[in-house]
Amino acid sequence: MPVSFDVQTNPDARSDAEVATLLAAPGFGEYFTDHMVSITWTKGQGWHSATVKPYGPLSLDPSAAVLHYGQEIFEGMKAYRHADGSVHLFRPEMNAERFNRSAARMMLPELPVELFVEGVRALVEVDARYVPQPEGEHSLYIRPFMIASEAFLGVRAAEEVTFLVIASPVGPYFGSDGVKGVDIWVTDEWARAGVGGTGNAKCGGNYAASLIAQYEGYDHGCTQVMFIEASGKDRVEELGGMNVFLISASGDLVTPALTGTILDGITRDTILKVGAAQGFTTVERRLSAQEVFDGIADGTYVEAFCCGTAAVISPISGFKSKRGEWRLPEAGYPKTLAIRDGVLDIQYGRVDDTFGWTHRVA
Ligand code: PLP
Ligand code: COI
Repeated sequence: MPVSFDVQTNPDARSDAEVATLLAAPGFGEYFTDHMVSITWTKGQGWHSATVKPYGPLSLDPSAAVLHYGQEIFEGMKAYRHADGSVHLFRPEMNAERFNRSAARMMLPELPVELFVEGVRALVEVDARYVPQPEGEHSLYIRPFMIASEAFLGVRAAEEVTFLVIASPVGPYFGSDGVKGVDIWVTDEWARAGVGGTGNAKCGGNYAASLIAQYEGYDHGCTQVMFIEASGKDRVEELGGMNVFLISASGDLVTPALTGTILDGITRDTILKVGAAQGFTTVERRLSAQEVFDGIADGTYVEAFCCGTAAVISPISGFKSKRGEWRLPEAGYPKTLAIRDGVLDIQYGRVDDTFGWTHRVA
């Protein structure tokens, strides 16, 4: 669908020297580009007023439904600069399709896939100088989101909604060393999702609800928390913002099946395909935390990692829970790093993209 964006250039855009300074040490999600995209939906009119405008505060009525009932969804994706200077999105239609599944769950309007991708492309084009050089796995993190902006306190699906896209140049999510192992706290107390809940929707409330467990993890010296499904059946789900994989000594690449309570990660799907091409036997099934712990103890599982757009692929050094502590072998995580390189090589254009996943935008 050809969409025409009204482009309002930011008169206070950063100078090239200022952009260079922040790209030298971007952190994660601290700095934002000069522009943002906004598209409005109203019940009568559908999607309209597609605009690229200066990045800045939103004007929201204090009664806007999102502020009270959390009717909100978001996505996370990245633009990668290749060595020849070109800029590419990675499987953007997957984000657009997941966004619509999240929208359906949260009674928000569907956004046509083409409009989602056009909105992302419009922002990356106008702010392309913020896409960092590929060194250090830097990239431009893109955050599309949709909020119930209607001013109304009744509990019902909002009749005015705003879709926005913002972007932030980023380095590694876990700090400067992207391949250092992380310790994971496995919470037996807090659940992130249950059957029929919002676990497979990317909605803000899931993340607010995960924080208490994350802080429990910090108290135990862990970086992230792994959740067990709420039924009490000891089913491993995922981390607060990442999926999880285990690798067996015999080359099985195992991840919890998509049973409706976890997010269907695009990195997860990518790893399953890249891993299979590398000769791993990919397995999607239900697995219990106890099975993970026992499998590490008896040497069945030799590596584990977490994965997501923000976190990329990070080796797991150990799991801790009230049940005990299990360390993965400190052998440099060779299988995890082979998969990691396989994915990053495609994203950064270092190998031929035989899967057809990269989309040039600048
Ligand atoms: N699980 C959760 C809860 C997430 O927030 C994310 C991040 O988006 C993921 C998994 C990984 O998804 P993706 O690989 O699409 O970024
Ligand atoms: C992403 O990986 O894009 C996410 O949304 C996860 C979030 C914790 C940053």
